[in-house]
Amino acid sequence: MCVALLKLRQTGTIVPSQRFLISQMIAPVPESYSGRIIELGAGNGALTLRLAARCPQARILACEINPTLARETRDNLDEAGLGDQVEVASDSAEHLLSEISRRGTGPVDYVLSGIPLGNLDGERTQALIDAICGVLRPGGLYVQFQYSLLDRRRIRSCFRSLRTSLVCLNIPPAVVYYAQK
Ligand SMILES: C[S@@+](CC[C@H](N)C(=O)[O-])C[C@H]1O[C@@H](n2cnc3c(N)ncnc32)[C@H](O)[C@@H]1O
Repeated sequence: MCVALLKLRQTGTIVPSQRFLISQMIAPVPESYSGRIIELGAGNGALTLRLAARCPQARILACEINPTLARETRDNLDEAGLGDQVEVASDSAEHLLSEISRRGTGPVDYVLSGIPLGNLDGERTQALIDAICGVLRPGGLYVQFQYSLLDRRRIRSCFRSLRTSLVCLNIPPAVVYYAQK
């Protein structure tokens, strides 16, 4: 909470996502999924833990730009006995995605993100969305939550299809974007 207040623009909120929003974010990933999932902006791991518990065969690569929160995510995963399933990079999404592209580690089926796109400038938001689209395989899914519909058109223009879902039972209420490449 203190970290969130100090870096509010970067964090996007003062409270981690709550269970209804997390449920909507992770619902498209089948429980039996055994491939790789990328999570951008893990915060303290509220979503990461639920995702790891739901998909025990999946390998999750989560990144978090704030080193304090990245450490908290790692600690929370270890405490829950889920540490082996998840790699937490204390890194920016931009850098992580460019490393994935550079190394050519294979296409990705799912990218889940809580990065506050609305707090970035337009150019940076566009570059991030392009980079996400770049690592996904055709048919792959980008799931993003936001507290507004501001970036809807931008995301729509990069993906084959887009649907949105409003989650009122969250503080603050949020919108989940499901964008398919
Ligand atoms: C709205 S919070 C979501 C946290 C968590 N996923 C949740 O659902 O509770 C957004 C997180 O993204 C992180 N973040 C912001 N910009 C980032 C970037 N460029 N790369 C990686 N993480 C970033 C923030 O530090 C913050 O922890």
